[in-house]
Amino acid sequence: MNLEKIKYKISHRLPFLRIPKRVLYAMSYYNKKYIQILKWGMRSRETANYTYDLTEQNILYLAQTISVVTRIDSKKIIEYINEARNNEQLKEHIITATMKSPHKEYADLRVDFGRRLGWYAFARTLKPKIIVETGVDKGIGSVLLCSALLKNKEEGFDGLFYGTDINPEAGYLLSGKYAEAGKILYGDSIKTLSEFTEKIDLFINDSDHSADYEYREYITIRDKISENAILLGDNSHVSDKLAIFSIETKRNFLFFREEPGGHWYPGAGIGISFKG
Ligand SMILES: C[S@@+](CC[C@H](N)C(=O)[O-])C[C@H]1O[C@@H](n2cnc3c(N)ncnc32)[C@H](O)[C@@H]1O
Repeated sequence: MNLEKIKYKISHRLPFLRIPKRVLYAMSYYNKKYIQILKWGMRSRETANYTYDLTEQNILYLAQTISVVTRIDSKKIIEYINEARNNEQLKEHIITATMKSPHKEYADLRVDFGRRLGWYAFARTLKPKIIVETGVDKGIGSVLLCSALLKNKEEGFDGLFYGTDINPEAGYLLSGKYAEAGKILYGDSIKTLSEFTEKIDLFINDSDHSADYEYREYITIRDKISENAILLGDNSHVSDKLAIFSIETKRNFLFFREEPGGHWYPGAGIGISFKG
């Protein structure tokens, strides 16, 4: 009997001998992440709401997903996504506003929009009259959405953006020409939404990330959305509330999972609720 056969027989009879090899193989899927974590720990200043780009494959999948929802050619969606990624004026605005902000110690001087590129592409495709984003934080999503509305305006489609946030210091990136397209309404989001009187065409939930609060936001806006409104959930990677709300209101639901490029964060996603 040759050596390989003997090894096989021993390993077959004593399965615990296979454990180290199997464990090392499984760990090889995660080792790269630990290197990224160490590099990020030393280079980045961010403590939450991380900045990263998406992988090219993920951008292709994002465009295809939005194309299925909006029935617009995915090549057009890719054009919109690249328009945002290559908007040097917007990037310069974000860097300048970040450097002026009292929170700059906790920010990286780089601009990448991650899954918000999907929000942008929806805003460019749908040409919404009213966009609401609940929970704006620094305002990166807000300023990006306002830049979409400014582009829509150049093409003859007017639109307004409203952000909500409980933190009076939130939204500092929404300034300059971008603030002409929208504003932040400060206070508890549910209260703000209860008092909101305009019909919402594009709604993005990203405030209090508890599933219960998220669901209450959807219930609050149920009768305030236009017939073909699209609702995006930033909590859908951890909560099924937008999917449940979609079933209850006879809407369709899809989930796009984002894949950050060169970052340890496993990624969140976009829950998409839409009429068929
Ligand atoms: C994840 S961050 C939002 C990120 C942002 N949408 C973006 O694109 O970067 C969540 C934000 O929700 C706000 N928030 C938390 N609870 C809230 C509430 N009850 N009402 C309004 N805003 C709330 C926080 O102050 C925080 O700025």
